[in-house]
Order: sequence, then C-alpha cells, then structure tokens
Amino acid sequence: MIYLNGEFMPMEEARIPVLDRGFIFGDGIYEVVPVYSRHPFRLREHLLRMQHSLDGIGLPNPHTEAQWSDLVHRLIALNEPEDQSLYLHVTRGVAKRDHAFPRGVQPTVFMMSNPLVTPSRETLEAGVAAISAADNRWLRCDIKAISLLPNVLLRQMAVDAGAVETILLREGFLTEGAASNIFVVKDDILLAPPKGNLMLPGITYDVVLELAMGHGIAHEVRKIAEDELFSASEILLTSSTKEITPITSLDGKAVGNGKPGLFFWKLHGAYQEFKNSVMRRA
Ligand code: PDD
Repeated sequence: MIYLNGEFMPMEEARIPVLDRGFIFGDGIYEVVPVYSRHPFRLREHLLRMQHSLDGIGLPNPHTEAQWSDLVHRLIALNEPEDQSLYLHVTRGVAKRDHAFPRGVQPTVFMMSNPLVTPSRETLEAGVAAISAADNRWLRCDIKAISLLPNVLLRQMAVDAGAVETILLREGFLTEGAASNIFVVKDDILLAPPKGNLMLPGITYDVVLELAMGHGIAHEVRKIAEDELFSASEILLTSSTKEITPITSLDGKAVGNGKPGLFFWKLHGAYQEFKNSVMRRA
C-alpha cells in the first residue's frame, strides 16, 4: 500500500499527472526512513531534514510534524513487513511547464514502503568493494533532492565495475558516497568529513558520531584529503538502509588488510545495541 495526496491505495492504482514537476523537472525532495519492528527509527530527525530540504527549494511543508508522523505510522500499519524502508516524496505539484515556481499549486505527496533489507552477515564479514570518482554534482548536496541523475550515473559506475558504491572526491577531498556517507579510519582515529553544502547530512552519520562519542572511540570531524582516503586502514559506508557497511576494497586494491577492521566491528555492535534499545523503549 502507498500514500498519494490524502489517500492510501495499492501501488497499482496510484496515478500521477505527466505534468507533475517531479516528472518534468525533478523538482522535489525526499526522505528515506528505516522502520524496525514497525517503529520508524529517528523519525523526528528525518522530518527535520525534510524541512531543511523543503526550505532549500522554497517549498512550504504541506504537513505538520504531527501529520507526517500520523501518515508514517498508518503506512507502516498497512504494509506487511516488520522492517520497512519508507520513501517520502514531496514535489512542487502539477502545473503548465515553466521553470519558475507556479502559484497556488498543491504539492504532490507520495509515500511508499519497501521491505528493509539490511546487509547480511556474509556481506559484513567480507566487506564490499567501492570505486572512487570525481564528485561532479551541484553545490547543494545538503538538499535531499529527487533530481538524482548525477548520483544515478555515479553509482552505475560502481555497478559496472563490480562494486557497490562510488566514493566521491571534490578538489582533493572526500565528500560522500553516491548514496551514502563515508567515514575513514586513519592512525587509529575515526574521521568524518564535516557537514556543509557538499554532502547530505546523514541521519546514520549522526548516529555513528554519537556512538563514537558514547563509546570512547577516538574520532575527529575534519576535511579528509584524497591520500588519507587511499591510505586508510578502514573505510565505512553509512546509510539508513545499509546501516554501517565496511568497504574492504577501493579501486581494486585492499583497504587495510582487506578485512573489516576493529572500528567497524565496534561501531556495528554499538549500532545494533542502540537500535534495539530504542525499539524496546518505543
Ligand atoms: N540515501 N548521502 C547520500 C547522497 C545519500 O543518498 C544517502 C542516503 C546518505 C545517507 O543518509 P542517511 O544516513 O540519512 O540515510 C548520504 C538513501 C538511503 C537513499 O537515497 O535511498
């Protein structure tokens, strides 16, 4: 079951006019919220980031936080899986084609649920491969825009190379992955690139830094130079659907000893424990 503009319905019945600005211009934003045992994880933070994205594109929020929360809980209840990933999309609505914002148009609100499939034990034990590429996206990567063509092309580069993610570099510094945030371990310190307009402020990224703080894991938030990425002892990828996944090869070369390292296992354990404690309290 999906939600579209005020109604819940089976996906097959959902229709969007061809002049929707999401279709014509990619003019909209989205969120991905992981759901564990039917509880949305960090919903408040996702809704706050959605507000940031809406503000970034000058689109008034069609719902209050309480209304979003109600819609999210109803969508979860209408779908089978215990663990889901919810996609929340808002576009600038349907209007005659013109780049400039239309007046008096209702935004389109669409929400769908997919089964949440987090990385398997085998994946975590082996780690995954990544490639590197120049970050050729725009300068507002802090907005979770639905216009994802650059990200689509960059992640396809990874798939074509038999890898799962493309790590992006801009002017000699790490920004993020095509669909994830990236952490690096260098000299026994967990390094995170600073938030700003060049990367999406990840909800999982924040959780990882909180866990590092809470568990006494040495960490620093600072710009990460290209050579630090290529000489890292560990590289971690984070996102709402991939949680924390170790990257064990970069551009065909082993990262560290080619196996997920101590920082990964510590943070992975802490993340699972934290998730379970949040779900127990919910
Ligand atoms: N992507 N950076 C980019 C470019 C992303 O697309 C994502 C997530 C992240 C991680 O953010 P978070 O921890 O809040 O999921 C960073 C989602 C999962 C997606 O588009 O499907």
